[in-house]
Amino acid sequence: MSQNSSFEGQVVMVVGAGNGIGRATLGLLIERGARVFALDNNQDALSEIQTLFSLGSDQVKALDVSDEEAIKKVVAEIFASEGRIDALVNSAGMTGPTNRRLNTITWPEFERVLQVNLFGAIWLTQQLIPIMQGQKYGRIVHVSSIAGKEGNPGMSPYVTSKAGMIGFIKGVAKEVATEGISINAVAPAVIRTPMNADTSDETLKYMIARIPMGRVGEAEEVAETICFAASKACSFTTGFTFDTSGGRATY
Ligand SMILES: NC(=O)c1ccc[n+]([C@@H]2O[C@H](COP(=O)([O-])OP(=O)(O)OC[C@H]3O[C@@H](n4cnc5c(N)ncnc54)[C@H](O)[C@@H]3O)[C@@H](O)[C@H]2O)c1
Repeated sequence: MSQNSSFEGQVVMVVGAGNGIGRATLGLLIERGARVFALDNNQDALSEIQTLFSLGSDQVKALDVSDEEAIKKVVAEIFASEGRIDALVNSAGMTGPTNRRLNTITWPEFERVLQVNLFGAIWLTQQLIPIMQGQKYGRIVHVSSIAGKEGNPGMSPYVTSKAGMIGFIKGVAKEVATEGISINAVAPAVIRTPMNADTSDETLKYMIARIPMGRVGEAEEVAETICFAASKACSFTTGFTFDTSGGRATY
């Protein structure tokens, strides 16, 4: 492995590490030498990954990303104990309503999806950037979605949150571009994870039909792209949304 792909000596926070893409990314980061901190709001999933990856109890932390104060507290805690945070991977997310027209969706339902998927990403980034500025190094990777690029029907809160994330990273990346910090997103198409357990068959069919490779992706395939974007090797790309969509994204 090239030195730039290695995470040896680096501290990496993975938010939404309990399942799916976050869990697969956590595994790959550990394999590549990172000292990881796994955060999630699902306590059972955290216990599972603690055992699976033999993590210390201090490396596994409960966090609800829709709680700004909780984000401040946990980032400060990790920084106080480690003295640095080299990379953040944020894979926490929820689908919210699917196969529902806009006018049938209540505002509390809409707002909840924005809070988890978009506000959480913003609050995490706000806490991490000053730390990374102090180090003159940092990598931030948010997991967006092809839905944010193309707009899937019937899931307007999700689409709005993921498109918001793409715009957010584009703007912030330019603010910190000369400070050793890159901030990118990854846009997966349908990936085989627990998240899709609640997605309606109609929505799933719609999404697979638009993937030129004609199949769903695997969490491990997305983890590879995330790990690149979170590594030193990703040294000349920022504000970009990487495609992991089996050819669906054409721009
Ligand atoms: N699976 C797909 O088809 C797909 C496609 C495109 C984008 N994505 C995005 O990828 C990311 C990961 O999705 P996944 O498929 O691995 O889903 P998943 O449900 O398997 O994993 C998501 C993780 O986020 C955690 N989480 C949810 N709400 C949280 C909160 N409020 N605070 C902290 N943690 C929270 C869950 O407990 C879970 O462990 C999400 O942002 C999702 O929108 C997934």
